[in-house]
Amino acid sequence: MAIDTSVPSIARIYDYFLDGEDNFACDRELAAQLLRVAPEARAMARDNRAFLGRVVRYLAGRGVRQFLDLGTGLPTQNNVHEVAQQIHPDTRVAYVDNDPVVLVHARALLANNPHTVVIDADVRDPATLLADPALRELIDFDQPVAVLLVGILYFFSEEDRPFDIVAAFRDAVVPGSHIALSHVVSDEGPEELGQAQELCRSFLKRPRDARRSRKQVLSFFDGLELVEPGLVPASQWRAEPLDTVDTSGAAAWMLGGVGRTRAGG
Ligand SMILES: C[S@@+](CC[C@H](N)C(=O)[O-])C[C@H]1O[C@@H](n2cnc3c(N)ncnc32)[C@H](O)[C@@H]1O
Repeated sequence: MAIDTSVPSIARIYDYFLDGEDNFACDRELAAQLLRVAPEARAMARDNRAFLGRVVRYLAGRGVRQFLDLGTGLPTQNNVHEVAQQIHPDTRVAYVDNDPVVLVHARALLANNPHTVVIDADVRDPATLLADPALRELIDFDQPVAVLLVGILYFFSEEDRPFDIVAAFRDAVVPGSHIALSHVVSDEGPEELGQAQELCRSFLKRPRDARRSRKQVLSFFDGLELVEPGLVPASQWRAEPLDTVDTSGAAAWMLGGVGRTRAGG
């Protein structure tokens, strides 16, 4: 797919919020508009990224050796394979995204890493992704897998059937696997949050609203056993003493949690 430098992209705006350099003028313009409406957006992005790192460290420390990272984002610091392979060098990571800039950068970064693969796929179509030969070659679905849906589900409107998407991945993995996700919640945030989401929605040209309450986000974990401490502000999920805990007020809007799949679940 060609790279259009005149249309903003989620991945590049997120990269901008994380102080990355892989973003264009159109991304920075939309980011500036978002920050005017919701100044906490940058802190939310950072909380989200730090949550991802802690989740991977936690799961790798508990023996998870396979990760499926859905909506990878542009490579930055503490990418999933870097965190996981520090704990176990043979950990396998399949990265999935549909942004051409992400795919180019991720492939360049990972060219020499035999335990990773980068797949160009739309997460909203789990059946096609789960049948992808490159995915099947790297990830053994007869062994536990950690499925990461971090910072992505709130871009999916109801007509994308986000609950069916999560259920499809839950049903594709064996008991003892995990699903980790983060999500902005509309009932904890102020009105500005809705305006920021509306801005994103308009440039993404998605027809319906993707705002969800805490209760709705909790139901993504249906059929799963929530790992302690449950669905909590992402900045607080298993935060360690030296972690910077966000105090900007954004903390309460971005929730994160991890669920474990169980036999017969
Ligand atoms: C906010 S970034 C999150 C990156 C990373 N997961 C993290 O939490 O640090 C969202 C990513 O999801 C990707 N994305 C959005 N919709 C997607 C879709 N339908 N299929 C695949 N990737 C998608 C975007 O391209 C972007 O890279």
